[in-house]
Parts: sequence; structure tokens; C-alpha cells
Amino acid sequence: MALDTLDIGILSVVLAALIGYFAKDLIKSLLSSNDSTNVSTDSRDLVEVLNETGKKAIVFYGSQTGTAEDYAHKYAKELQTRFQVPTICCDIADYDFDKLGALPSEVDGFKFVTFFMATYGEGEPTDNAVDFFDYLDNECDSLEGLKYLVFGLGNSTYEFYNAISKRLDKKLSELGASNISVPGFGDDGTATMDEDYLAWKESIFDVLKDHLSLEEHDVKYQPSIKLIPRPDLSIENPIVSLGEPNSKYINPTTEETKNAIQYGPFDHTHPYLSPIVKSKELFNSETRHCIHAEFDFSQTNLKYSTGDHLAIWPSNSNEEVEKFLKAFNLISKRNDVIGFETLDQTVSLPFSSPITYEAIVRHHLEISGPVSRQFLQSVHQFAPTEEIKADIARISGHKEIFSKEVTEKYFNIADILVNISKGSSWDDIPFEFLIESIPHLQPRYYSISSSSLSEKQTVHVTAVVENEKPQGSDHFVTGVTTNLLRHIQLAQSKSDLKPNVTYDLDGPRNLFKPFKLPVHIRRSTFKLPTNPATPIILVGPGTGVAPFRGFIREKVKQAESGNNKIGKILLFYGSRSVNEDFLYKNEWPEYSKKLGENFELITAFSRDQKEKIYVQHRMLEYSKEINDLLQKGAFFYVCGDASRMARDVQATLVKILIAERNITEEIANNVVRGFKTSNRFQEDVW
Ligand SMILES: Cc1cc2nc3c(=O)[nH]c(=O)nc-3n(C[C@H](O)[C@H](O)[C@H](O)COP(=O)(O)OP(=O)(O)OC[C@H]3O[C@@H](n4cnc5c(N)ncnc54)[C@H](O)[C@@H]3O)c2cc1C
Ligand SMILES: Cc1cc2nc3c(=O)[nH]c(=O)nc-3n(C[C@H](O)[C@H](O)[C@H](O)COP(=O)(O)O)c2cc1C
Ligand SMILES: *[C@@H]1O[C@H](CO)[C@@H](O)[C@H](O)[C@H]1NC(C)=O
Ligand SMILES: *[C@@H]1O[C@H](CO)[C@@H](O)[C@H](O)[C@H]1NC(C)=O
Ligand SMILES: *[C@@H]1O[C@H](CO)[C@@H](O)[C@H](O)[C@H]1NC(C)=O
Ligand SMILES: *[C@@H]1O[C@H](CO)[C@@H](O)[C@H](O)[C@H]1NC(C)=O
Ligand SMILES: *[C@@H]1O[C@H](CO)[C@@H](O)[C@H](O)[C@H]1NC(C)=O
Ligand SMILES: *[C@@H]1O[C@H](CO)[C@@H](O)[C@H](O)[C@H]1NC(C)=O
Ligand SMILES: *[C@@H]1O[C@H](CO)[C@@H](O)[C@H](O)[C@H]1NC(C)=O
Ligand SMILES: *[C@@H]1O[C@H](CO)[C@@H](O)[C@H](O)[C@H]1NC(C)=O
Repeated sequence: MALDTLDIGILSVVLAALIGYFAKDLIKSLLSSNDSTNVSTDSRDLVEVLNETGKKAIVFYGSQTGTAEDYAHKYAKELQTRFQVPTICCDIADYDFDKLGALPSEVDGFKFVTFFMATYGEGEPTDNAVDFFDYLDNECDSLEGLKYLVFGLGNSTYEFYNAISKRLDKKLSELGASNISVPGFGDDGTATMDEDYLAWKESIFDVLKDHLSLEEHDVKYQPSIKLIPRPDLSIENPIVSLGEPNSKYINPTTEETKNAIQYGPFDHTHPYLSPIVKSKELFNSETRHCIHAEFDFSQTNLKYSTGDHLAIWPSNSNEEVEKFLKAFNLISKRNDVIGFETLDQTVSLPFSSPITYEAIVRHHLEISGPVSRQFLQSVHQFAPTEEIKADIARISGHKEIFSKEVTEKYFNIADILVNISKGSSWDDIPFEFLIESIPHLQPRYYSISSSSLSEKQTVHVTAVVENEKPQGSDHFVTGVTTNLLRHIQLAQSKSDLKPNVTYDLDGPRNLFKPFKLPVHIRRSTFKLPTNPATPIILVGPGTGVAPFRGFIREKVKQAESGNNKIGKILLFYGSRSVNEDFLYKNEWPEYSKKLGENFELITAFSRDQKEKIYVQHRMLEYSKEINDLLQKGAFFYVCGDASRMARDVQATLVKILIAERNITEEIANNVVRGFKTSNRFQEDVW
């Protein structure tokens, strides 16, 4: 994990919603000389920064995929506008932690700190919050006098629901900090994150008014950035960003930038532009698709290890870009060049500028995801007519109406606004507002399906294409990255088939040609036992089989290199039908040939017979063998869908232990917990 690279230390109380902690690298160079404020860029000292900027409250976020970050920014913005509390909003890794305790005494008029913390992995902190918890657990003596609030983001389908925000609340109070109110918990599992947050926020704002005597003001959009038209520049000018992944990719003339593009270091701030050398369709279906894609690292020194994740940086589809530009009357301005001035010295831009409107929309904003009720509320002030204003108030005012008219229709921002305005465009929304309110387009993770032992310089991914027409919706809902991969696959194989949505595969200035995408590697803890003789039990239905293909290719390689002590491998795989979506159907017999009796594939095809059969049913048939292997020290792995499968599999394992070992449920649960602590039970679920 490359958090050290984060101490680029910009004062990044950032543009609402926008700054990814991976974007920081590019920002520094962007704050142009026109920035009117005196930015103290490199300090990691919180007290110094607050003293200098006059901020009186802090909002920290611990975020993996941007949700917590998005909420944090909106909340900070509201503290500023509603209560006029100057607030800094930043990544928890942006500053040194040791000044946290000094804030109340050393910063005049300091009010409080709010944490937006997501839970990741199995009840673990997000990558950017790991060091912070380490600090709280091992180094911090006291936070006496610090007032705090916590909002946690989690998913109740996971075993350790909101474990991190709960742990943080407990730890802070143990260290003497005082809670202003009870923590809030947002739940993705019940799809109520937005409502959970809004309810918590209302209660918090009441507390702030009552106990901190904060005065409430009218909420009006106060921009933190100012758009500056640059008629002096055209898209031909090489310094203008057309959507390059970061500033290093724009006009790289120096040896240093050329080197950085070729050899990195690559991480969440700086992706490698990897060629996709091969791609193919894995399903045999007209309506469902799954793409196998191979990324070539042979021209660079980027490394991965079996079980890691590949992060793919997507761009939006042509269809969504057009729809969005049209909704905000930007079609004629799409290629106009713009720069930005920051009006709040703790705010920085999450992308390079000067840049074009289209580049921002296509490469930097999450324009096609679901809309939040909060967003609709904030758009109210820009409604073109009184009638539309009233309609927005009606829809965004009640969660039931919002859910029925927006969420259940699978509308995105352009869809809902154009629907409400009955087709006319929204000319009065400042573009700055859109940049500040719409989440920043984030990379997506894929479990690598190759082995670093057998494919040293090639990374395989296995991605199921998200393309569905859900009940209640009148259109196909498409995933950004997976449809991009499918378009690449169809283009690369010169197929006659048409993708559901199309992309600009050539990229800015043909940078992505032929078939390249920006990627980085995320290290994972999902790893094979170090001793090849240790037996392994793998449960991976659907695309959950991805990392296990990597594991098995690794085993095959070990066997080929003369290791004759390969432990037993049981792989439980399931999908709908043997003829439709059996992933890597032709490969398994080959692996069997190489690994002999040591490898056993046990399949469950849910729809090939009357009654549904899933992997957990097949596990029960193998109860004795599973227990025997575990008694011999086997490692147990689960990968795939977190919402039901991973739970059912764990429950089945407990059942097997109860039956085979004649132990109580409580003891069986303890055994599984023990496996987890000793890394003998590992999950890679999403
Ligand atoms: C650690 C990890 C490993 C993973 N490994 C794999 C893997 O090996 N293989 C794999 O296929 N996936 C994997 N995933 C999931 C993957 O990261 C992506 O989430 C997935 O591919 C969807 O990405 P997308 O960009 O295509 O969809 P997105 O654009 O992110 O959309 C996500 C979902 O929202 C829906 N949606 C879009 N717009 C709307 C709207 N307006 N309203 C409501 N719903 C909407 C889409 O249909 C889609 O189902 C993994 C995830 C994690 C965290
Ligand atoms: C791989 C993965 C693991 C997760 N693990 C947990 C967990 O153990 N407990 C929990 O409550 N939520 C868990 N979640 C849910 C996230 O916390 C939730 O989706 C949150 O909104 C993500 O916030 P972020 O986008 O800021 O990272 C997990 C999500 C993913 C994708
Ligand atoms: C900076 O300001 C100068 C003078 O006002 C202007 O000509 C120039 O376009 C601005 N540059 C940027 C990057 O905004
Ligand atoms: C900017 O900050 C530096 C160091 O804090 C200070 O010396 C300088 O006078 C400031 N400049 C302006 C224009 O405020
Ligand atoms: C911040 O300001 C306070 C009060 O003005 C002062 O006591 C303190 O030394 C300052 N700290 C830093 C690091 O500037
Ligand atoms: C702070 O936390 C304690 C313990 O969880 C709780 O009892 C108390 O109500 C909280 N205080 C406020 C102001 O919510
Ligand atoms: C959270 O839970 C829902 C519903 O069970 C599930 O569909 C979704 O994939 C989960 N979200 C994440 C981010 O894991
Ligand atoms: C999208 O895909 C579905 C199923 O694959 C198909 O039926 C539909 O016609 C497609 N729509 C468009 C606009 O291509
Ligand atoms: C708005 O959406 C509803 C529900 O999908 C649809 O019936 C209606 O025709 C749409 N109106 C416009 C103007 O697009
Ligand atoms: C299971 O354990 C119980 C209580 O420990 C014991 O009475 C019973 O005989 C055991 N049954 C088997 C099949 O070993």
C-alpha cells in the first residue's frame, strides 16, 4: 500500500465530492498562478494549516471507493453554508495525526472534527485509514477536549457491519475525546445509505444549533472554485487536458515525465497506460456477457502478485456524455477550454486544467450512477421555472416519493433533470456546481485471474458486463467499466455485434490507441498458503472464480516446475447453466491433466434442473472431505458476491463443522473465527 506517496500534502479541503485521494498528485501543478490565495502547500501540520486558513472545523474521510469522500464533502460544504463554520474537508491520510489532540487548545475558536469512515475488507479500515488506526491504537495518549462526530458507511450484509466507525467511536471516547452526538450508520445493504445519512444529518444539525449555539443560515450554493473561460487556448494546444489520466500524461516533454509514464511508480495517483493484448467473450449468450481481458506489463516494471486486484480507470460512454452535455446545454461548448481559480485556499482541483468541458464530463465525473436525494435537493435553487422548482421540492422532499420516482426508475442525473423539465435543458446550473456536487469518476477493482508465477508480465481479469433492464425501468442500465471492456473486446475481435453503449476507445489525443487503459495494482491480502503442500478449499461461483483461476494456474506452474508435493485443491464453482455461463469451461480439464487427483472441480448449475443447486449444496455433499482437509490444515477461501453467497457459504461451513465434529454451533463459530484470525479463512467479496 502506497500511502507514503500521499504526503504531497496539499491543503486539500477539497472541491465537494471531487478529490480522490489518488488525484492529489496531479493537483499541485494545477493550481495556476492565478490562484489569488496564499496557499501553504506542503504542510502536514494540522494546527499550522488551521491557523493559517482560519478554518474552525475538520471533516476527515476514510474512503475506498469514494462514497465516504462524497458524503464528507457535501457535509463540509453544508457546515460552511448553513452554519458558516469555516471547514476543511480532507483525506484522513493528508495530515500528521499527532496534532489532533492539540486542536482545541492551539486553534482559536476550534469547534469539532467529524469523521466519515467506511468499513472495508472484513471489518477493516479503508487503505487510507490504516495508519490512522495504527496511530490511535499504539501512539496516541490523549484526545482530551476534542469534540467529535462520527458517520459510518457500511453494508449490513457483511459480518462486521460498520465495524470501523464503531471502533473509531469507542477508541475516541477511550482517549478522552467527547462525542457531540451518537454516531450515524449508513447501510448499503438495505440501500438506505442516503436516507440514513439525511436522518443523521438533521439530528446533528439540531444538536449543533442547540448545544454549540450555531446559527442557521439559508443554504445557497457558495462556489469554492471559479471557472475562467480560456478563449486564448484551443484543444490543439498541447497543454490543454483532453482527459489524460493525470498531468504527467499531458504534453510529457521532459525525461522525468517520460520516465514516469513508462516506469512509474504506479499507484492510485498515477496509473500505467496498459495495452490490452487479448480479450474474449466467456459466455455463450445473446443477452449476458463476461469479458476476459489480458493487460500487458512487459513494457514496464509494474509487478503484481497472485490474488491482487487490478484497478481500471474508466471513462464514460458516448451516449451518457451526449445526454449529460445536452441536459446542461453544453453541446456547443464541449471543446471550449476552461481554467479554474480556487476561491477557498484549502480546496484544490481534482483534475488538470486548462481542460475542456467534454474532458471533465467524459473522464472525471460519475455521470451515470444513481442520483441521491441530497443532490436533487441542492439543485432546487437552479430550477429554470417555478413549476419545475415545485416539482423538485415535491420529489426530493419525501423519501418515499423520491424512491418511487427516481431510484426505482434507475434514473441518473441527466435522466431525472430532463424528465422533470420535460425535455428542456438546464442552462442556469453553474458548471462549478456540477463539478463540486457530482462524485469523481473512480477506478473499479477486478480480482486478477492470472498467476504472477505463470504470467509474470500479463494480468488477466474476468469481468461480467453490467447491462440490465430492471423491473420498473424503461431503459437498460449499464455499468461504466464493464461495458467499456466489452466495447474493447468487440472492437479488438472485429466483431459484427454491436455493444449496448460505445466509448471513445482512442482516448485523448489517441493516447489509448490501440486498446489501452489506465490501470494500477492494488495489493491484497488474499493469498495462497506459503507451503504448496497445504490443501486449499476454494468457493467461487460466478466471477468469484476469477482469483481461483489464478491460484490454480499457480499450482499448475508449481507442478510443472517439478514440485510433486502439491496439496489437495477442492474448487466449488457455480453458475446458471453448463452451456451458457460456465466460465473457463475448456480450461479446467487441462488443469486437471496437469494436477491429477490433487485437483477436484465441483460444479453447481442452478438452472439446469428443476430445483436450484448452489455451491453451498455441493459443499454439504463434501462435508467429510472438507472437514478432513481442514483438520490437515487446509486454507478456506471464498470469493464473489458478498450479499448472499459469502454468508451462505460461511453458514454452511459452520453446519459442516457442527455435524462432522459433533460440536455446538457456538464452538463451530469460534472455530471459524479462529480460522479467520490465523488467515486460514480468507474472503475476497464485493
Ligand atoms: C475487491 C473487488 C474485486 C472485484 N472483482 C471483480 C471481478 O473479478 N470481476 C467482476 O466482474 N467484478 C469485480 N468487482 C466489481 C467491480 O469492481 C465493479 O463494481 C463492477 O464490474 C461494476 O463496474 P461498472 O463500472 O461496470 O459498473 P458501475 O458503473 O460502477 O455501476 C455499478 C452498478 O450500478 C448500476 N447502475 C448504473 N447506473 C445506475 C443508475 N442510474 N441507477 C441505479 N443503478 C445504476 C449498474 O447497472 C451496475 O450494476 C470487484 C469489486 C471489488 C471491490
Ligand atoms: C470489498 C468490500 C468489503 C466491505 N466490507 C465491509 C465490512 O466488513 N463491513 C461493512 O459494514 N461494510 C463493508 N463494505 C461496505 C462499504 O463500507 C460501503 O459500501 C461503503 O459505502 C463504501 O464506502 P467508500 O466508497 O467510501 O469506500 C465493504 C465493501 C466492499 C466493496
Ligand atoms: C491568469 O491570469 C491572466 C491575467 O489575468 C490571464 O491572462 C490568464 O489567462 C490566466 N491564466 C489561467 C490559467 O487562468
Ligand atoms: C504568503 O505566505 C508567506 C509565508 O507564510 C508570507 O511570508 C507572505 O507574506 C504571504 N504572501 C501574501 C501575499 O500573503
Ligand atoms: C496557532 O495559533 C495559536 C493562537 O493564535 C498559537 O498559540 C499557536 O502557536 C499557533 N500554532 C501554530 C503551529 O502556528
Ligand atoms: C456519547 O456516547 C455515550 C456512550 O456511547 C452515550 O451514552 C451518549 O449518549 C453520547 N453522547 C451524546 C451527546 O450523544
Ligand atoms: C451491499 O448489499 C447489497 C444488498 O445486499 C448488495 O447487493 C451490494 O452488492 C452490497 N454492496 C457492496 C458495495 O458490497
Ligand atoms: C441492450 O442490450 C439488450 C440485451 O443484451 C438488448 O435487448 C437491447 O436491445 C440493447 N439496447 C441497445 C440500446 O442497444
Ligand atoms: C418521465 O419519466 C416517466 C417515468 O419513466 C415517463 O412516463 C415520462 O414520460 C417521462 N417524461 C419525460 C418528459 O421524459
Ligand atoms: C456428540 O457429543 C455428545 C455430547 O458431547 C455425546 O453425548 C454424543 O455421544 C456425541 N455423538 C457422537 C456421534 O459422537
